[in-house]
Amino acid sequence: MAQQVRGVIATAQGAPVEVQTVIVPDPGPGDAVVTVQACGVCHTDLHYRDGGINDDFPFLLGHEAAGIVEAVGDGVTNVAVGDYVVLAWRAPCGTCRACRRGRPWYCFDSRNATRPMTLLDGTPLAPALGIGAFIEKTLVSAAQCVTVDRRADPAAAGLIGCGVMAGWGAVANTGGVQRGDTVAVIGCGGVGNAAIASAAFAGARSVIAVDVDPRKLDWARHFGATDTIDARSEDVVERVRELTDDFGADLVVEAVGRPETYEQAFLARDLAGTVVLVGVPTPELTVTLPMIEIFGRGGALKSSWYGDCLPTRDFPILIDLYLRGRFDLDALISERVGIDDVEEAFARMQRGEVLRSVVVLQPAAV
Ligand SMILES: NC(=O)c1ccc[n+]([C@@H]2O[C@H](COP(=O)([O-])OP(=O)(O)OC[C@H]3O[C@@H](n4cnc5c(N)ncnc54)[C@H](O)[C@@H]3O)[C@@H](O)[C@H]2O)c1
Ligand SMILES: [Zn+2]
Ligand SMILES: [Zn+2]
Repeated sequence: MAQQVRGVIATAQGAPVEVQTVIVPDPGPGDAVVTVQACGVCHTDLHYRDGGINDDFPFLLGHEAAGIVEAVGDGVTNVAVGDYVVLAWRAPCGTCRACRRGRPWYCFDSRNATRPMTLLDGTPLAPALGIGAFIEKTLVSAAQCVTVDRRADPAAAGLIGCGVMAGWGAVANTGGVQRGDTVAVIGCGGVGNAAIASAAFAGARSVIAVDVDPRKLDWARHFGATDTIDARSEDVVERVRELTDDFGADLVVEAVGRPETYEQAFLARDLAGTVVLVGVPTPELTVTLPMIEIFGRGGALKSSWYGDCLPTRDFPILIDLYLRGRFDLDALISERVGIDDVEEAFARMQRGEVLRSVVVLQPAAV
């Protein structure tokens, strides 16, 4: 039986989000209905609300979630009813050209639910990143459900489903960090701090945190930053050079998504260094770079989607690090809020007051 639950909808570009009734259909073949327990507020949700991703309004926002599998459709074998899962926005298909070449972390045909959730009038919803989890129950492909250790708090575990994995993997996977590297991270929100934790865990010699907000720099120290740069008052490129014996960093992660910070990342790296762009730019943005520097410095300019992760491989590892006290996911949770508070959480994100607000869902009334 299709169910009616409350979900957070972005109706039009820039308009405040609204909690509306959503119809969640029964799971189709290969699908799963998941009771959402918690879902983090990622900057990408705000990009969706502001029309920065695409124009497929109305969106069902939320995509950093953990919950319990409530029902599965025909043919589902990877999860069962009652499993505790983190939702992934990458579920490799196994058959696209990337998957066939053994690079499933680039999958170009990631699995999603086979039928849409809708508003009461039947309008189909576009779920953020193919998930849509600011909602009491959501419909996803069962392949998007990654079973994890039940002892992990859903508010912390859910964060692995996007921002944490994106930041951690940008350093560990895309950036290929090596023990002894120098690493700089520009933008120390939820994503940037996960990148910092990843660099520290991998044995980077120095981990340089860059932000325009001193609160973010304090948090960055907690996650393992060895040095901090306040981009409002200091020259970022100069300071990164000073902190790396005048060479620049081996790896610079850009976790803001702006031309000026991308340029800083480009110029703050050492010869043969790597830049990894994680921040999501809006479509109108452009960068101008001296071509001779692109050539002359060598190295690599990369982008990272979801930290080039494989959710079934990487989520349980991060949960294990969390449960063993080696990755303080709890410190990323600045506040726990209700489903009606997403708009206010966006405002706090924009004011820089939070690393992550996490929407904690109450069990739906039966
Ligand atoms: N590539 C991916 O797979 C992926 C996944 C998740 C999020 N993202 C993107 O990563 C970015 C960061 O996400 P978040 O959730 O951490 O956002 P956030 O808002 O929590 O953090 C952004 C940080 O950048 C800082 N900042 C802003 N302007 C700056 C400047 N000029 N110099 C230095 N720092 C500056 C802010 O103070 C803030 O601390 C967003 O663009 C988001 O859409 C990408
Ligand atoms: Zn594929
Ligand atoms: Zn996200």
